[in-house]
Amino acid sequence: MVGAGLKSFFLFLSQSRALNRAAKKWGLRFGASRFVAGKTIAEAVAKVKQLNEAGLICTLDHLGEFVTSRAEAEEATDYCIKTLEAIAKAGVTSNLSLKLTQLGLDLDESLCETNMRRILNTARRHRNFVRIDMEDYSRCKKTLDLLRKLRRDYSNVGTVIQAYLHRSEQDVANLKGVPLRLVKGAYKESPDVAYSQKAEVDHNFKRLIEAHLQTGTYTAIATHDDAIIAFVKQLVAEKGISHDRFEFQMLYGIRSDTQRALAAEGYTMRVYVPYGSDWYGYFMRRLAERPANVAFVVKGMFSR
Ligand code: FDA
Repeated sequence: MVGAGLKSFFLFLSQSRALNRAAKKWGLRFGASRFVAGKTIAEAVAKVKQLNEAGLICTLDHLGEFVTSRAEAEEATDYCIKTLEAIAKAGVTSNLSLKLTQLGLDLDESLCETNMRRILNTARRHRNFVRIDMEDYSRCKKTLDLLRKLRRDYSNVGTVIQAYLHRSEQDVANLKGVPLRLVKGAYKESPDVAYSQKAEVDHNFKRLIEAHLQTGTYTAIATHDDAIIAFVKQLVAEKGISHDRFEFQMLYGIRSDTQRALAAEGYTMRVYVPYGSDWYGYFMRRLAERPANVAFVVKGMFSR
């Protein structure tokens, strides 16, 4: 009950535009640096280098919330391009993750497509890959439609499928050949479109993992859940699926010991590394996911 209350509280705080604006002027506060790799590209790339040295590969995400103008969408696009260039220049092993709403999906779909093409051209030049994160249900169809269009011209783009959505089994079947990241799903969705019970989500997650792995297309399994990780290990061993056909993914700052342990066992482990001055909403959502992390915030408030 207390957990559910705190979850709603942090989700509510994550939507505050006033706090979001204020936080941009601050440095990383309240322990946010546990989950956010820095405010600048240089700081983020330095963290990626450290993670690479520890045997982990990465995906960088330039954080951004509440894009309301074409200029902001273009600025976010420029950040994505600069990030790809910084990755290439530093010679680190990282691809890029982004959200279409940052690139103007809600403002003008053709602007968003143009911005994606600019980013994918840069990624192609540097032989890199771009993952489109999946946002809430209202953007799912638009995201998959744009992805299909882009895939006609670019093989270096993939997306994310959320196990909590009823439609996902069909989406995985329709997206043959597209590298997918499979996740449980992070947004609050209506029971009309999504499973609400953990057991149902977990069951569907396992079915999607098995279905996509068996297509032979590269699969990313993004989870911190030991039961799902154990399921994947057993499945690939039983089916003889080699380790170069899939990877595990986890968020920066979450279960870092498990990340290193999986890498040491010979699995590919990719860390999702967010950075940027727009850290506030992302940080609040991590607190909502696991109110136990509040202990870090309290410590952070007193140690600064
Ligand atoms: P679950 O939430 O059930 O957690 C299992 C266990 O992991 C917990 O019992 C706890 O031990 C540990 N744990 C979980 N969260 C923790 C925390 N914050 N701190 C410490 N321990 C924690 N979603 C989406 O809708 N669209 C997307 O594009 C993405 N992209 C994405 C990329 C990557 C790399 C990851 C890891 C996740 C996403 N997600 C996402 C989020 C995803 O949908 C989901 O909300 C979270 O991963 C939480 O679900 P888990 O599978 O980790 O299990």
